[in-house]
Amino acid sequence: MFVLRPEIPADVPAIEALLDRVFGVRRQHKTSYRYRVGIEPVRALCLVAEEAGTLVGTIRYWPVRVGAVPALLLGPVAAAPSHAGNGIGRALVGTTLERAAALGHRLVLLVGDPAYYARFGFAPAPPEIEMPGEDPARLQYRLLDGGPLPTGLLRRAEAAGGGDCGAVPFALDAGAGGA
Ligand SMILES: CC(C)(COP(=O)(O)OP(=O)(O)OC[C@H]1O[C@@H](n2cnc3c(N)ncnc32)[C@H](O)[C@@H]1OP(=O)(O)O)[C@@H](O)C(=O)NCCC(=O)NCCS
Repeated sequence: MFVLRPEIPADVPAIEALLDRVFGVRRQHKTSYRYRVGIEPVRALCLVAEEAGTLVGTIRYWPVRVGAVPALLLGPVAAAPSHAGNGIGRALVGTTLERAAALGHRLVLLVGDPAYYARFGFAPAPPEIEMPGEDPARLQYRLLDGGPLPTGLLRRAEAAGGGDCGAVPFALDAGAGGA
């Protein structure tokens, strides 16, 4: 049985090791890292999954802009291969999307496998949302508020923590986690 909890600084070595294992040590060359390096993640939405004291999953979000409109870039998300198929990915993504909506975020983008993310309500981004250097077929979006979809160039956030509209402290419901 795993539990979800907010990421803390002491988790970073285990998170980096897990990400190296599932995405490879050259992962920082991916286009999506251009939107992460040097930018503070949205702390209220960065969670880990832990089982018996071992870190078995991670999810992080970064602030970005689509044109001038603030949005979130989901990822990376990963579950330990030894724990694949246990619902860790589902719990991490589902819990944080709910939290993002509650915090007032409107739009989430990610680069990933459409076959996995469709279950969370993501759909392929239209060509009017441009992420230079990325395979357009892997760019996906989910609107959290049903409003109009902003379009334009996907841009790095300008200031650390610029996308974190959560003054509300993170709190997980009791029992959040999974099988
Ligand atoms: C993708 C990932 C986070 C899923 O985590 P998980 O805890 O194993 O997933 P869950 O237990 O919540 O869900 C399992 C389901 O997802 C499906 N799934 C897993 N990876 C998938 C993929 N790339 N494409 C389509 N479906 C996928 C499984 O087949 C399973 O389907 P089912 O529910 O119909 O049986 C994990 O496999 C992982 O870390 N992969 C490597 C990194 C990665 O690809 N991250 C996502 C960025 S694209």
